Amino acid sequence: MTVRSKAAMSTQRAGTALVTGATAGLGAAYAEELAARGHSLLLVARDQARLASAAAELAERCGVEVSVLSADLATPWGVRSVEDVWRPTPRSTCW
Ligand SMILES: NC(=O)c1ccc[n+]([C@@H]2O[C@H](COP(=O)([O-])OP(=O)(O)OC[C@H]3O[C@@H](n4cnc5c(N)ncnc54)[C@H](OP(=O)(O)O)[C@@H]3O)[C@@H](O)[C@H]2O)c1
Repeated sequence: MTVRSKAAMSTQRAGTALVTGATAGLGAAYAEELAARGHSLLLVARDQARLASAAAELAERCGVEVSVLSADLATPWGVRSVEDVWRPTPRSTCW
């Protein structure tokens, strides 16, 4: 799922940040800070509903593009699913 925003064009300069455990605790704090700095985001956690809620809130509040991926990073196939969609560029950031 991707939530697009009116300011999505401006986030292209900041690059995309991959944030795991992004719906609570430290990950949520990093996602918030990176969005505030203009990064578009790929948020990863297990619970799809909480991911969708976090993505919608960050896109609305910070005006960035937010994608989500539901994956259990305690499993090899969960890690693989992130590797399958995450395409780092020189401006990408992982948290
Ligand atoms: N909080 C601190 O002060 C602190 C200090 C030092 C170190 N740490 C370490 O930092 C890490 C994060 O801690 P935290 O307190 O911020 O939050 P946490 O409660 O450990 O993690 C919450 C986030 O991680 C996701 N998550 C949990 N298990 C997952 C899994 N198997 N695969 C994918 N996502 C998963 C949760 O979403 P879902 O449940 O939807 O997956 C949620 O988004 C932990 O390893 C903790 O030991 C924390």
